[in-house]
Formats: sequence, C-alpha cells, structure tokens
Amino acid sequence: MEQGLSLKREVGIIGAVSFIAGTMIGSGIFISPQYVLLAIGSPGASFVIWACCGLIAMLGGLCYAELGTIIPESGGEYIYMLRTAGKVTAFVFVFSFISVMRPASATGIALSCAEYVVAPFYSGCAPPQLVLKCVAAVVILALALVNCLSVRLATGIQVVTMAIKALTLAVIILGGAVMLFQGNTANFEDSFDGTNVGVKAIGIAFYQGLWSYDGWNTLNYLTEELKRPEVRFWISLTSPDQSISLVTGLYLLVNVSYLTVMTPKELMSSTAVAITWGNKVLGSWGWIMSLAAALSAFGSLNGTFFSGGRVCFVAAREGHMPDILSMAHVHRLTPSPALIFTTVISLVVLIPGDFQSIVNYFSFTAWFFYAVTLSGLIYLKIKKPELPRPYSVSVPIVLPILILLVAIFLVLAPIIDQPQIEYLYVALFILSGAIVYVPFIHFKLCPGMFDKVTTFLQLFLEVAPAEKNL
Ligand code: ARG
Repeated sequence: MEQGLSLKREVGIIGAVSFIAGTMIGSGIFISPQYVLLAIGSPGASFVIWACCGLIAMLGGLCYAELGTIIPESGGEYIYMLRTAGKVTAFVFVFSFISVMRPASATGIALSCAEYVVAPFYSGCAPPQLVLKCVAAVVILALALVNCLSVRLATGIQVVTMAIKALTLAVIILGGAVMLFQGNTANFEDSFDGTNVGVKAIGIAFYQGLWSYDGWNTLNYLTEELKRPEVRFWISLTSPDQSISLVTGLYLLVNVSYLTVMTPKELMSSTAVAITWGNKVLGSWGWIMSLAAALSAFGSLNGTFFSGGRVCFVAAREGHMPDILSMAHVHRLTPSPALIFTTVISLVVLIPGDFQSIVNYFSFTAWFFYAVTLSGLIYLKIKKPELPRPYSVSVPIVLPILILLVAIFLVLAPIIDQPQIEYLYVALFILSGAIVYVPFIHFKLCPGMFDKVTTFLQLFLEVAPAEKNL
C-alpha cells in the first residue's frame, strides 16, 4: 500500500519567527493607534494600553507554548479544546473560527491593505467603497493562490514581507527619534489629561490594540509543520516570546514617533495614521509609507491564510468538517481544499464588512475562545501535572489564571457598559454551532451526503487524504 500523504516539515526557525511576528505586524500598527487614542482619550493612557496589550500577548504566548508542547498537534485552539473540553466545544469553536473569525480577520487585513494600496491615487478624499472591496478581493485571491501552490513560496513571502515591515517600523522610529531630539516634545506634556476611564472605553481601546498584536498564537496552528522536533521544542521555548517582545518594543516606539510628529488631534482625525506620518516627515516621498503598509498587511494576510487553512484541515481530519477539507494536493502537499473554502467565505464576509466593526466583533469572539483554551490549560495543570512538558516550558498556574481573567473582562466589558444587540447576535451565532453538531456530527445524519461531491472534487483538485504528522 502506498504510504499516506502528510504535510512536510518545512518551517524552520526564521520561518517560525516570521510567521509569528509577520502575522502580528500587519494592518493594526498603521491604523489602530488613532482608534486606541480615540477610545481612551489621552496619549499617556494610550501608551499604557499598548504596553498592557503587549504584556497580555506575551503571557498568552507563554501559556500557548506550554499547550503546544503538551499537545504537539497542529490546529491551535481547536485541537486543545478537543483534547481538554471535548468534541462539542471544539466543534463550536471550529464552526465560529471558519465562519466568523478567520474570514473576519482575513477581510479586515485585506481591507486595510486595499486602503493603503489606493491611498496615493485618492489624496485628499476617501476612496469609493467598491474600489476598496475589489482591491481587497484581488489581494485575498492572490494569497489564496500562493498558499495553494507551495508552502515554500508562502514561507518565502512571509520572510520577505517581515523584513520589509521591520525596515518600515525602523524608519518610523528613527524619523520620530530625530524629531524628538529636535525638541518636539509638546505632545507629551500633561499626557494623561482627558483620559476616559469607562469600562467600555477601556474595553474598546484594548480590542483595537490587541488586534495589532493578534497572531501571537500563529505557531500553534502549524505545530506539525515545524522542522524536526528539537527545533520545535526550541521554538516553543523561546521564539514566541522573543517575537512577541520584539513586536511590543517596536509598537511602543512607533507610537512615540506618531505622537512626536502629530498632535493627538491630528492623530485622531487622520484616515490612516501611517500615511499622515509619511506626508509630514517624508514629504513627497510619503507614498512609500502607503506601499510599505500595504505590503505589511499583505504579509500578515499570508500568515493568516497559512494558519487558518490548517485549522480547517485538522478539524476535517477529526471528522468535524467534510472529508474533502482534510485532503492535501498530491504533489504540492498544500491543504488546498481547506484554503479554497476559507477564501470563499472571506469573499462573502468582504461584501458587507467594514474595518472597525470587523475588528470589534473579531476580538470579542477571539477572546471568548482564548478564555476557553486557557481554562483547558488550567485544567491540564491541575488534573494532569504528570504530562511531559519538555524543556520545562511549564508556566506557573497564576499566569493562565491571570490571562483568563483578562479575557473574561475583555468579553464582558463592551457588553456590560453599553449593551449592543450585535454582540448578542455574535454570541447566538457561536452557540448555534452546537445545534449543527447534534444532527450532523453526533448522530451522523446523512452519512454519505458528500461522497459524490468528495470524489469529484478529489479528482478535480488532485488531492488525497493526509495523515497526522507527529
Ligand atoms: N495583527 C494583525 C494586524 O495587525 C491581525 C491579525 C489577525 N489575526 C490573525 N490571527 N491572523 O493586522
């Protein structure tokens, strides 16, 4: 019998760091600072928010590193929930992940990429929505194609765009430092004046800030594709943290630069902060900032596709999604059916979506599931302390408890202060996953429903079932 297919272990250390940092640094840092400031009201408080967001991401990353070594399978939250909270919870997660979270994050990043691509052509006025959405759709399709064609190409794009964004952030930081040393410090005086201390203001500021840090868990989605186990353990021990602290440091300095160059008022009223910064500091070369920010979002979207396809793929492998989604291309070894599926849903979400609300609903759902995952870690630490935890990645139990409390605050804050009916819809949608689970997965109603379609698609897409790669 022919040996089964499995995805290759092609992601090494540079790839791993680029997948984490490169997915984190995307659209957010070029767009969210104004929304954080708008919500929280003062530059001083906005720094505090950015620093706390970095800390939350870092502690979350540590907890996830432990999960990644105890449960060394791809699939991120899905597989952790399956192994701790059980099938129904894992299904409810994957249902929301595939239908809300991944398409929402892909669409959010693609929309802001589009915004930067077209900005130089519409200076002084807002680009038409139709143009933005068409460009975003092209970006989504291009990256879906890349990810279907080759893991190596996708990793390459991740590494190159990572280098571009590191350079861009360095330029912003240096430009700011020069202005700061020339004495532009006025915006830092009385920097806590006007701070909003409402629960909702803080919650929304965190949503916007944490959007820029989201992606800190990217490696947990592709555990089975990281090169050799030793490297994997090395990565789980150090690189999530290194990447996340690197990103935190960069974000804080970039925020200092923005506020050195612009007054808080200017920052809050700019359409896209990186462009305003570019126009002020680089003058007629300001368009370079738009290009760099667009490429940054492009790289982050690439990472988002790469990891998102893996969750769909792992869930199908466990029987929670139609079989076809667990297959990989026979030559290219990419999970193309899962990637195509994610692309189609992202294009549907793109039609009604706008960046602001996408970010808020995404964060609400994401933090709800981070909370469930962290509860799983706490459960494992209490009930199964004997599980092997290589290279002592074990974190003290107070850490997951702390982040769990933060996650609960983040989910409840926008609801408690000013309840909006939309959050109720999102919550109902998440729960509706359980209703789908009972007939289709538990009772396996219509078992052969997809057989014909599966065979057809298998031949058409040249894909075959792929095995676990442990
Ligand atoms: N941090 C990214 C950005 O600023 C968004 C990441 C979305 N989430 C994800 N898991 N890919 O654009």
